[in-house]
Order: sequence, then C-alpha cells, then structure tokens
Amino acid sequence: MVRLGALAVGLFFVIAVLWGAVQPREASPPDPVKAVHEHPEQIAWTHNGPGNLGILGTFDRKQLQRGFQVYREVCSACHSINRVAFRDLADLGFSEAEIKAIAVSYDIPTINDAGEPTTRKGTPADRFPLVYPNEAAARAAQNGAYPPDLSLMTKARPDGTNYVRSLMLGYRDEVPKTLTAPEGLYYNPWFHSVFIAMPPPLAADDQVTYADGTKGTRENYATDVATFLTWTAEPKLEARKATGVAAVIFLLIMTGLGYLSYKKVWADIKRKPAKA
Ligand code: HEC
Repeated sequence: MVRLGALAVGLFFVIAVLWGAVQPREASPPDPVKAVHEHPEQIAWTHNGPGNLGILGTFDRKQLQRGFQVYREVCSACHSINRVAFRDLADLGFSEAEIKAIAVSYDIPTINDAGEPTTRKGTPADRFPLVYPNEAAARAAQNGAYPPDLSLMTKARPDGTNYVRSLMLGYRDEVPKTLTAPEGLYYNPWFHSVFIAMPPPLAADDQVTYADGTKGTRENYATDVATFLTWTAEPKLEARKATGVAAVIFLLIMTGLGYLSYKKVWADIKRKPAKA
C-alpha cells in the first residue's frame, strides 16, 4: 500500500516535470541591456604564461611599475588600494629609498596626543590610505556613486583582469537607440548595467608620461593598470604557480620511483602459467 502511494507521488512529479517541459514558454521581451552588454576582450597576459593557460607565468616588473604609475596619477584620485602596504611595492622592483619616498607622499590618518584626529606622513609599514573616510563620504563627493577600493577588484569580477582592461577602453559616445542614458552616467557596454557613474578615466593618449619611456597610449594604460590591479589582488600569484610546478615535478619523480620499485619487487616472481 505504502509502495503504491510512493509510486503515485513519483509519477505525479514525473508528469509535472514533463508537462512543464512541453508547455510553450511565454516569450519574454528581449532585455535591451543584455542585448548590448559586452564580455571582456581576451588578451595574452605575461602572468598567464605560455598559451595564456594560467599555469605558468610571471609578472613583468616594468609593466607593474607602469600600472602603478597609472593608478597613482589617475585612479588614486577616487579609488583606494587599502589592502596594499607601501613595503609590498618591493615586489614591483622598487628600492627601499623609493618606497620610503612613495610612503611619505601620503598622509595617514591618526590620533594626536590630545586625542584629536590628525594625519602624519606615511611609512613603508603603512597601507595605502582610504581616499574617503567612509562610503557615505565617498558618495557625497561622487554624486551618489561609490568608487570601490580596487585592491581586490580583479578577483571580485569574473575574468577580472580582462574586465578591468575592457572597462577602461569601453566608453562609447554613441548610445544605442534602444536605451536612454540616465543623467550623469556614461555609456560603457562592459559595465554590468552599461551605464557607469565613473567618468572615462583614461580618456586620451599622453595623459600619463611613463617613467620608463613606454609609449603613452590609452591601450597601454589600460593593460598596465589591469596588470597592476591583478598583482594587488594576488601578490603571491608567482609563488603559488612555482609551488604548483614543484608539486607536479615531485609527483612525477615519485611516480617514477614507485614504478621502478614495483618492477624490482616483482622481478623474481614467476608468472603462473596460463590455464589450459
Ligand atoms: C573621478 C573619479 C574616478 C576616477 C579618477 C576613477 N574612477 Fe573608477 N570608479 C569611479 C566611480 C564613481 C565608480 C562607481 C561606478 C558606478 O557604480 O557606476 C568607479 C568604479 C570603478 C570600477 C568598478 C566597476 C564595477 O564593475 O563595479 C573599476 C574597476 C574602476 N572604477 C577602475 C578604475 C581605474 C582602473 C581607474 C584609473 C585608471 C579609475 N577607476 C579612475 C570613479 C573614478
């Protein structure tokens, strides 16, 4: 009796599912934002290694320094990288003296002896300070929009490195007829809602004069700053890959040893003659 009941319930669900499958779906109107939203352009990154596979690869130090320069001269007006300490910049190939010089150029909030908030000069042990004391202050200064901290941005978005680069280069003057630009927002089909509050940060070539003489093009700025932000999000990327490679080599050697000892252990054992 119980079995029959269970069978009936099971059958009911099977029929319900099949019924759902054969029902014609209501045609939903095409979403005009989805129709124009673009996926990040894929390019080859040195930190992704040969074939862009992501298994091997190291950061290009000069490129990281250029990306940092773009961040410092352009993005840092609105965005913090509060998870990064000045001394971490040693990874980029900066000397101790250079790091000190960078650190003192920033004011770090602190409390003085009288208990009042004030600022002091940065030291290598400090982290990059916030641009605004909190989100409300940021929104108040940015017309209601919030420029997020960029330390982990390339991890926070799918395909983050390509995304940041595409977003930088993705501003378009021509808004599709299917959409109306909200007041004060910019059309950028790489942003999730395709209208972004950030004014085009890399609007022109020669906006930044690279210290290493690399050509100052929007494309270079976007690629370099995306690389820099990949490092801020994963400064240990190279160490992680090196560990992976070492682990694979270790496993290969152990497999070889295992095979050889197997041969040795079984070398004297005669095979049983096959049964007639
Ligand atoms: C004038 C201020 C300003 C500058 C300069 C600026 N941004 Fe922004 N940025 C914003 C604001 C505001 C937002 C939030 C946009 C929104 O939510 O519509 C934002 C958002 C972003 C986002 C997040 C997009 C997302 O998917 O949520 C990224 C990434 C970004 N900016 C990168 C940069 C980089 C890289 C630079 C430097 C090359 C830069 N920004 C320079 C104001 C700025």
